Amino acid sequence: MSLSNKVVVVVGGGGLLGSEFVRACIAEGARVVVADINEPAVLLEGATFIRSDATNEEAVKALASKVKKDFKKIDAVINAAYPSGTKVKQNGKFEDGSIDDMLENASMHLRICFNMVRAFAPIFTEQKNGSIVFLSSMYGVAAVRFELYEGLSMMQPAEYTAAKGGVIAVTRYFASLLGKHGIRVNAISPGGIVGEYPQSFVDAYNKHLLLGKGLLLPKHVSGAVVFLSSDASEMMTGQNLIIDGGWTV
Ligand SMILES: NC(=O)c1ccc[n+]([C@@H]2O[C@H](COP(=O)([O-])OP(=O)(O)OC[C@H]3O[C@@H](n4cnc5c(N)ncnc54)[C@H](O)[C@@H]3O)[C@@H](O)[C@H]2O)c1
Repeated sequence: MSLSNKVVVVVGGGGLLGSEFVRACIAEGARVVVADINEPAVLLEGATFIRSDATNEEAVKALASKVKKDFKKIDAVINAAYPSGTKVKQNGKFEDGSIDDMLENASMHLRICFNMVRAFAPIFTEQKNGSIVFLSSMYGVAAVRFELYEGLSMMQPAEYTAAKGGVIAVTRYFASLLGKHGIRVNAISPGGIVGEYPQSFVDAYNKHLLLGKGLLLPKHVSGAVVFLSSDASEMMTGQNLIIDGGWTV
């Protein structure tokens, strides 16, 4: 599981999960590039920030080239970005929103995955080695339980399920396409992460967990990122690691 001498790029590395992935990879010895549209307030020693819009194909290609030039190699790239469309009604009910806006939002998630493969696969092919990790969600695997959201202003939108199910599907697609070049492509599907949720939601959510331990902390997901970035997972590709306290079982 050691990431000593590894170079890991975390796209969306300034976010809730991304920043924990950066911390965990550095703790295991990696040099980490934080690629985000927003500069993180705190940048850990061992991390380098590169501003980059992952929805822009040319920007992601420029990012990959710069990292390769500066670090001489790239071992893994993680997609922890959480893009959102300009018009989409966040957490809206399906009946209320514009379908165009919803699909704009879903396509942004997939666009980032496509851009990452376009930009990093040629470098990984040349190296004959590289790991690509996408973030899906338990809602890419299991149906939303709408009763949990009754009476609340929050909702899991249809476009999120579309995006996250798509991420798992393209994980398999790109694993199949790129395996012959020594490139591994895997996904991680976390359950809900601790946030500012009403207690009634947290209690109802908890009842569906086999472990009964409530929402996840980012550190519960970062071990999988370290594993998938390391040689410990060298024979693993096309898989989706579900970390959800037992919600989807
Ligand atoms: N938070 C959860 O409960 C949860 C649960 C399951 C899965 N996920 C998934 O994990 C991933 C990360 O979620 P999070 O909660 O850490 O999100 P977040 O909003 O905390 O962080 C996302 C980061 O992505 C960056 N970003 C947004 N658009 C970008 C772009 N175009 N280019 C580059 N960077 C961009 C933001 O600046 C931010 O730093 C998402 O794919 C999300 O669907 C989150």
